[in-house]
Amino acid sequence: MKSNPIIESMLNRKSIRKYTEEMPTDEVIHTVVCAGQQAPFASQLCSVILSRKKGVPFGAPLLFTICVDLHRMELIMRKRGWQTVTNDLSMLFFGIQDASLLAENMVNAAESLGMGSCFLGAAPYNADKIARKYKLPARVFPLVQLVMGYPAEDPPSRPRYPISFTLFEDEYPNLGGAEVEQAMKQMDDGYLAQNYYRKGKIMIHLEGGREENYTYEDYSWTEHISRKWGQWYQSPEELLGQLSKRGFKVEILDQGESKAGG
Ligand SMILES: Cc1cc2nc3c(=O)[nH]c(=O)nc-3n(C[C@H](O)[C@H](O)[C@H](O)COP(=O)(O)O)c2cc1C
Repeated sequence: MKSNPIIESMLNRKSIRKYTEEMPTDEVIHTVVCAGQQAPFASQLCSVILSRKKGVPFGAPLLFTICVDLHRMELIMRKRGWQTVTNDLSMLFFGIQDASLLAENMVNAAESLGMGSCFLGAAPYNADKIARKYKLPARVFPLVQLVMGYPAEDPPSRPRYPISFTLFEDEYPNLGGAEVEQAMKQMDDGYLAQNYYRKGKIMIHLEGGREENYTYEDYSWTEHISRKWGQWYQSPEELLGQLSKRGFKVEILDQGESKAGG
């Protein structure tokens, strides 16, 4: 594999969940956010709220809330005499694309300046609460939060799927059992070797009276992630409700129902 300082920094990055108390300077913070903004964009449908208050998860000095932001675009459009007719699901997708790229650029910029970071993914489920806290206008939706600061831990890089399970050339392969098992093994052996779940005392509880047969000897990533998506968030209603409160019209139409003109 090729190597240079940027690749090295990206390959060495890991989520940091312990921070020193050192507060990054304004210059450092602005550099990180400018690098974030310089990510490719579809429409700059994203904005960032910074909070330096105490009580940030993992003791981090900085908490960024990265939002899908249609508000500013609509202010600009209004000045030009336009109104959005694009449906909100499309706008949401473009916003998620923009916000994700900005967020990851911030992660890499932070890394290059000796800082660490960790995403917090629950923001969409707490959108209303976050919106009230930061006085977000309608049409601004908190997509993800990012804690950042100087690391007080140096965990190992976490495992990833083999590249052959991620990169497919020209056509998506017919994945047989052997490839799936190889990918599972790479993930599970990798996390077990790092004692990740035992150290963090992380094990998703089995619901519905299912019997627990795992211990920290064999509980690893593929079981963990299967329990997540096999048990949680069955109904889209909670998220649709949060979107609706933020002024995004993303509805599931009843069968047979269709929107006028669409
Ligand atoms: C969208 C997103 C949401 C995440 N949410 C959380 C979270 O709520 N809590 C947490 O500790 N880590 C969270 N993470 C960090 C992941 O757990 C972490 O990136 C993953 O385990 C891989 O580890 P690494 O970042 O150290 O390579 C999140 C990451 C992403 C990209």
